[in-house]
Amino acid sequence: MSTGRPLGLRTKIFLDGGDPQQTKAALDMLGFLDGQTTNPTLIAKNPVVQDYLAKGAKYTEETAYELYRKVVTEISALLPEGSVSIEVYADQRTPAKTMISQAEEMFAWIPNAHIKFPITAEGLRAAELAVKAHVRVNLTLCFSQPQAAAVYQATRGAKRGDVFISPFVGRLDDRGENGMDLIKNILQMYRPGDGHVEVLAASIRTMEHFLCALQMGVDIATVPFKILNDWAARGMPIPGDDFVYRAAGLRPIPYQNLSLTRWQKFDIGHELTDKGIEKFSQDWNALIQ
Ligand code: G3P
Repeated sequence: MSTGRPLGLRTKIFLDGGDPQQTKAALDMLGFLDGQTTNPTLIAKNPVVQDYLAKGAKYTEETAYELYRKVVTEISALLPEGSVSIEVYADQRTPAKTMISQAEEMFAWIPNAHIKFPITAEGLRAAELAVKAHVRVNLTLCFSQPQAAAVYQATRGAKRGDVFISPFVGRLDDRGENGMDLIKNILQMYRPGDGHVEVLAASIRTMEHFLCALQMGVDIATVPFKILNDWAARGMPIPGDDFVYRAAGLRPIPYQNLSLTRWQKFDIGHELTDKGIEKFSQDWNALIQ
C-alpha cells in the first residue's frame, strides 16, 4: 500500500471500471483515488454480471438498472469525496427528454454523481438542461475539437467541478490519429476560457498515454486498473519536461482556431461517437432479456 497522492501531482486520478472490488484494490494500492468513471461496457464486464450471464440468466430492464445503481452505490461509498460517473442509456434514437429523465433518476442514486451524455445534438441538449437543473455532467465520446467547443458553449454558466468532457485517446490512436493531440488541443482552446469545463482524458490504454496526460497537466485522467497497478509498482512517477511522448506512426491532429466567446454552430458529428454509442447500447442490451 502506498502513502497517497504524490507531491506535485496536478491531475485528479480516476479509475475507469465497473467493479467496486477494483475500486477498493486501487485505493489500497495508491492510498488515494479521486473518482471513477463507469459506462455500460464496463458494467457488463463486472464479474458478478459475468457470473450471472454465464449461468444463462438475463436481466430485465428494471433489474439491470437496479444492478447499475447497486454497483455505483458501492463505489460511491468507497469514494465519498470523489466523483462517480454514471452513463445514461442512449442509442441513435434516444431523445434529449428521455436522457434527461434518466439523468435525474441516476443523479439521485448517489451524492457524488456526474451523469454521462454522448456528444450528439440530443446529448448536448440534455446536458444543457441538466446543468440548468444543477445536475453534474460528463460529456463523453469526444473525438474532435469542435465537439469540445460545443460542450463549452452548451454548459456555459455551470461552475467548475460540475462539467467534465471526456476525449477518448486510444480510439483515435486505433485509427492512426494521435489521440493525445486532441487532449492538447482542447486544453489549449479552453485555456483563455472561464475554466468551467474540466478535461478528463479517457480511453487511456498505455502507461505512455497516462504519463503524457500527467505531463500535460490534464484536469482528470481515468485509467484502467492495470495501468494504475503498473504506475504504483513504478513508484507513481510524474513525468518532467524531459519526458517525450512517442506517437510513432500516428498522424498529428492539427489545432483549429475556434472561438469560445462568439456564438456559433459547430459541426459535432463524428463517426467514432456514433460507433461508441452503438457499442455501449449493444453491450447494455445484451444484458437484458
Ligand atoms: O473511459 C472510457 C473508456 O472506458 C473507453 O476505453 O479502451 O474502450 O476505448 P476504450
